[in-house]
Amino acid sequence: VTVGDNDYRPDFHFTPQKNWMNDPNGMVYYAGEYHLFYQYNPNESVWGPMHWGHAISKDLVNWEELPIALYPDNLGNIFSGSIVVDTNNTSGFKTGSESPLVAVFTHQNPANNKQTQSLAYSNDKGRTWTKYANNPVLVNNNKADFRDPKVSWHKGTQKWVMTLAAGDEIMFYTSTNLKNWEYKNSFGKNVGAHGGVWECPDLFKIKDINGQETWALLVSINPGGPNGGSGTQYFLGDFDGETFTSSQVETLWLDYGTDNYAGVTWSNEPNGRNLFIGWMSNWSYAQNVPTYSYRSAMTFPRTLHWQKSNGKSIIVSKLATELIYATGATVIEKTDVPSDLELLDDATLGGGKFYLETTLDFSTINKANIKWGNKSSSVLIEYDKANGELTLNRAESGFKFNNLNGNIIKCPYVLPASNQLKISMLVDKSSMEIFLNDGERVLTALVFPLAPFNNLEITANQKTKFIKKIKLSKLSK
Ligand code: FRU
Repeated sequence: VTVGDNDYRPDFHFTPQKNWMNDPNGMVYYAGEYHLFYQYNPNESVWGPMHWGHAISKDLVNWEELPIALYPDNLGNIFSGSIVVDTNNTSGFKTGSESPLVAVFTHQNPANNKQTQSLAYSNDKGRTWTKYANNPVLVNNNKADFRDPKVSWHKGTQKWVMTLAAGDEIMFYTSTNLKNWEYKNSFGKNVGAHGGVWECPDLFKIKDINGQETWALLVSINPGGPNGGSGTQYFLGDFDGETFTSSQVETLWLDYGTDNYAGVTWSNEPNGRNLFIGWMSNWSYAQNVPTYSYRSAMTFPRTLHWQKSNGKSIIVSKLATELIYATGATVIEKTDVPSDLELLDDATLGGGKFYLETTLDFSTINKANIKWGNKSSSVLIEYDKANGELTLNRAESGFKFNNLNGNIIKCPYVLPASNQLKISMLVDKSSMEIFLNDGERVLTALVFPLAPFNNLEITANQKTKFIKKIKLSKLSK
């Protein structure tokens, strides 16, 4: 069997029809549509002169690719950035009766790699974009890395806030009109992970399940992620419109997998959700993965909350509930499975697309394994209670992620007193998104099988009843 691009192209995750994609950009909800823009090279399946590609969705499951939104110009290539709905027309860009969309992005001059911030606007639901005549709007001659503006409206001060990545720190600027920006403060030089350059920040208010709010700052870092290469850390703290403060001492990661990078949240999300999407790859090998006509997918959209776990405040991530549209027939649903081994050899796994939820009881076992594969190769996911660690081993899964120690991915996680581990897992042909205990930990990993995987096994190191619940659903759309 030869496996080709179409065997790897996911059905429930956005991929460009052709050529190269990296970071998600400018996500905004407007007039009934979720917009997703993205770093795009329309000429090749590797990184190159960056454009903003564009796709829209009404349900976060089905995406329609639209024409390229932003092309390089004489100020440079179009790097990452964000979009806001300018409800009060502070920018003056409004031409019709509807609020304009304003994109704030980085211009990267390819001659000297100089990075400046620029604007473009749309008065036709994001279909066409006009660059602002006086670009760039923000220049900083002291910073070589100065990019990825994420803009949001700060109610308290009635100002726009720009959160910007500047090498080893985040810089905050404010504006009343999106055109004139004033520097306020920086954050991060002495905290968090610094194994690489800081990129693609996001700053937002985040709720716990009771609605209590705090502030979150996401910072992507490359390299220096938790399992090497690219990763996204976060800080919980406070923001007064100018200054971000945090008493967090530990470095916290939004995702322990190797394949969730540069993710940020939607602007103007209609249900008030912190709705997140990330680039499902890693700079260590993204340009070498075995798809050739296109490269890269986004994660499935996720909602973010904060909660206290073992006395510490953390962010929990859940798959957006829109996934329900895509979960079709239930293949198996059982409670208190009597045997220590559950072997599912069902044709529905042949398509390599499923959603699994299982709760494992570690009261009398030390280790449990989930194996997804076929006779000759597989991915092995093991939770080791004594080590307090989940490991995903993709060394024997087909494609080898050799540019990184990326064949074995580790995620520290100590079980709660209940001794129960709920694993929720979305598998879509070439990706696995794994959530532990409702998103207390997340691990996203790409997998490129050489022949279809159609077998799923759950085993433990003792012969006992340990599978409290299992539900496996097909995906369909
Ligand atoms: C992150 C990143 C951004 C930059 C973009 C360029 O992956 O390096 O910092 O804007 O990609 O494509």
